[in-house]
Amino acid sequence: MNSPVYFPALWLVIAALIIGIMAILAALSYFRQTIGKDPLSRSQFQRQMVLLQQMRWVLSLLALAMTATGLGAWYLDTNQKAAADAEIRAGLQPKYDRSKVWEAPDPYLAETDEHAALIAYGRDLVARTQDYFGEKGLVRPGSINGMNCQNCHLDAGSKPYGNNYFAVSSTYPQMRPRSGSLETIPKRVNDCFERSMNGQPLDTTGREMRAIVAYIQWLGTGVPKGEKPKGSGLAEVPFLDRPADPAKGQKIYADKCASCHGAVGQGLPIAADSPRDYPPLWGDKSYNEAAGLFRLSRFASYVKSNMPFGASYQNPQLSDEEAWDVAAFVNSQPRPKHPFLQTDWPKIEKKPFDHPFGPFADTFPEIQHKYGPFEPIVAHHKK
Ligand code: HEC
Ligand code: HEC
Repeated sequence: MNSPVYFPALWLVIAALIIGIMAILAALSYFRQTIGKDPLSRSQFQRQMVLLQQMRWVLSLLALAMTATGLGAWYLDTNQKAAADAEIRAGLQPKYDRSKVWEAPDPYLAETDEHAALIAYGRDLVARTQDYFGEKGLVRPGSINGMNCQNCHLDAGSKPYGNNYFAVSSTYPQMRPRSGSLETIPKRVNDCFERSMNGQPLDTTGREMRAIVAYIQWLGTGVPKGEKPKGSGLAEVPFLDRPADPAKGQKIYADKCASCHGAVGQGLPIAADSPRDYPPLWGDKSYNEAAGLFRLSRFASYVKSNMPFGASYQNPQLSDEEAWDVAAFVNSQPRPKHPFLQTDWPKIEKKPFDHPFGPFADTFPEIQHKYGPFEPIVAHHKK
């Protein structure tokens, strides 16, 4: 049964038996017709007819028996496969360890999941968002800026400290002070559609949203409810004791970023004939002022562990100062305006220290909320 030819061979033999039975039936009917026309030939064909009838019975019984064994074996075989699968899956279940940097679950768990197709679609939507919602998108063309979710959620949201989704399944729904409401995963996904993607939200019951949520939930496999695994989201960069400096950042940008992101932050094709682009960092096609990256600490944390492309938290390429200064430069360039300035942060005292739009519940000026130094603001609010 373990041989790949077992079942095809069995079905072939059964088919051959059935063809044999049909041939016998045809022969019998031929003899009957002949006898009908010429009763004298009855005695002549008697023996052949008895023999054929016996053969018919034997073949029919054989075919029945083989079909029954075949179906039985098939049933056992699928059950065995399911049991083997379940055993492999159980062996691959990640074991939660608070002290270890968390990683994405084994892809086998997604491939053998009962929602495998939905999870795979969700991953593709995150990795190649342009193909579905970009200018020539298959699902809803022209409904987002020039970015993919993956541009900011690296490796489709599975890179340690690469703004991954490891803690989403375990910590949502959650109360979020930005909207002042209880946010589900679909609501949080749509936040990024409207801000980071500067676009329109998805229908929360549509297949695309269900796929993204299924994928994000799968990424949280093995994370206990309420836990934020080590390595999830972004790694914080220590504060500077001065304001971040856009002028210094401009030089870093020219030296270390412009080769991929373009002289004026517009993004560049990855290769001459490539349909993929290095993403824009500012301008019309980039994230708007309501996006997470527009907060200096989110930007600094993202680039410190991930940029220039190829950097990681184990192998950063920028100093803390460079991360903050380049953040200050990029986020001082023009980009789409904040669409929710009136409704965000209904309780102003909940605004994060680096939310750069007043009014504030403290007396620090807007420019300090944008560029720092942040330590005094944080200390003030701790009191
Ligand atoms: C321009 C960068 C950018 C793009 C593009 C982007 N995001 Fe985000 N996303 C962020 C940032 C920054 C955060 C917040 C991180 C933080 O607060 O620590 C975030 C947070 C999230 C979260 C919540 C994570 C958590 O742990 O709470 C989800 C879910 C999410 N994004 C989904 C998406 C999806 C889906 C897309 C594509 C439709 C997308 N994002 C596109 C930057 C981006
Ligand atoms: C070798 C090319 C390369 C260099 C150099 C580079 N980046 Fe990137 N950057 C990328 C790619 C590629 C992505 C998108 C990653 C993906 O989609 O998997 C990206 C994404 C980003 C993003 C998130 C998406 C967006 O457009 O907002 C930011 C922010 C960013 N880079 C900032 C920087 C900064 C700052 C520097 C310089 C310190 C830099 N990058 C240098 C290739 C590069």
